[in-house]
Amino acid sequence: MSMTLPSLHPDTLAQLNSPAYVIFRDRLLQNLDSMIRVAKQPSRLRPHCKTHKMDRIIRLWVERGVTKHKAATIAECEMCAAAGATDVLFAYNPVGPNIARMVALAKTFPGCRFTATTDHEQPLRALSAAAAAAGVTIGIMLDVNVGMDRTGITPETPGAAELYHLVKSLPGLVQAGFQVYDGHQRQTDLMERRVAVAEQWPRVLKLRSAVESLGSSVPAFACGGTPTFPCYAAMSDPAIELCPGTSVLSDSGYGNHFPDLPFSPAAALVTRVVSRPGPNRMTLDLGNKAVAADPPKGARVFFPDLPEAVQDIHSEEHLVLVTPDAQRYQPGDVLLAVPVHVCPTSALYDRVAVVDDGRVTEYWDVTSRNRRITI
Ligand SMILES: Cc1ncc(COP(=O)(O)O)c(C=O)c1O
Repeated sequence: MSMTLPSLHPDTLAQLNSPAYVIFRDRLLQNLDSMIRVAKQPSRLRPHCKTHKMDRIIRLWVERGVTKHKAATIAECEMCAAAGATDVLFAYNPVGPNIARMVALAKTFPGCRFTATTDHEQPLRALSAAAAAAGVTIGIMLDVNVGMDRTGITPETPGAAELYHLVKSLPGLVQAGFQVYDGHQRQTDLMERRVAVAEQWPRVLKLRSAVESLGSSVPAFACGGTPTFPCYAAMSDPAIELCPGTSVLSDSGYGNHFPDLPFSPAAALVTRVVSRPGPNRMTLDLGNKAVAADPPKGARVFFPDLPEAVQDIHSEEHLVLVTPDAQRYQPGDVLLAVPVHVCPTSALYDRVAVVDDGRVTEYWDVTSRNRRITI
């Protein structure tokens, strides 16, 4: 997918403070429609909201019939439920005070079904006790580790089936299926990605058979992220839910790495030249407070107009580019950039400027950029 960005109207360029985070509304809507097309029907989607963290985008999903959502923090769960989601998966194991917060979510939004992941008996029992005491029911998905090794339990771990089966006997909890997140599957070639998913899936099915033989059921599998989205979408098991997040806004990390994905960058950073400190050098107001710094230095942002520029110094408020094109730019000139990793970039801004036909028409809050809204 092309990494080009729409341009901004000169009036907008004159007024918009920088650094700024902007969303091109038509691009965003195209990405949502493309996601529904890939999924084939809205009910198969459970998109992850961590990419944008904006209640306005959840509302756009709900208007399109996508009512199941995934979240990584309690604040994101609250945002989804308050924006009309009726089924929210907290794709994180509740521990410590998050156990009480999870229960509080269920009490505050009785019209929304909440599910959490688990991979350990101890917090599971604590959640059960808290939910039962509060008179609420929380769904539980077993977090199945198929190779990413970030969280979860591998299908072959002794006791994996028994852990999920335990949920059946715990008050306040109900079995909701398996989460199968495979963020390690990053093959550029779609066929290779499909093969990798096809190879890991029998391990998941074997675990399902094991829990079924104990008398438990697996009503849903919450599968994958953006790279494996087309792979799971092509599978016919009706229990499969599709959980891409990044595709909503897209970024250059994925866009440049997975050319098969039918999504284009809908979010961009607006930055200005603040200095030309030497020949071939230009300094932008796009420091590491303005774009996610988890990709390696030198590869945190992509400039469609300067794809070859070397990103040299990157400090809190400055990004120095080294490029022979520097001489074409003067202090005050504006550049548009695509973040390499959009999800943590969203968390750096209070609000996003929404652009229609090159002009800012409204601002949306980045509702759950902080860890707490009210709960
Ligand atoms: C558990 C989980 N599910 C789904 C996603 C969405 O993946 P992607 O960003 O590739 O769309 C993520 C992203 O980090 C995740 O952690």
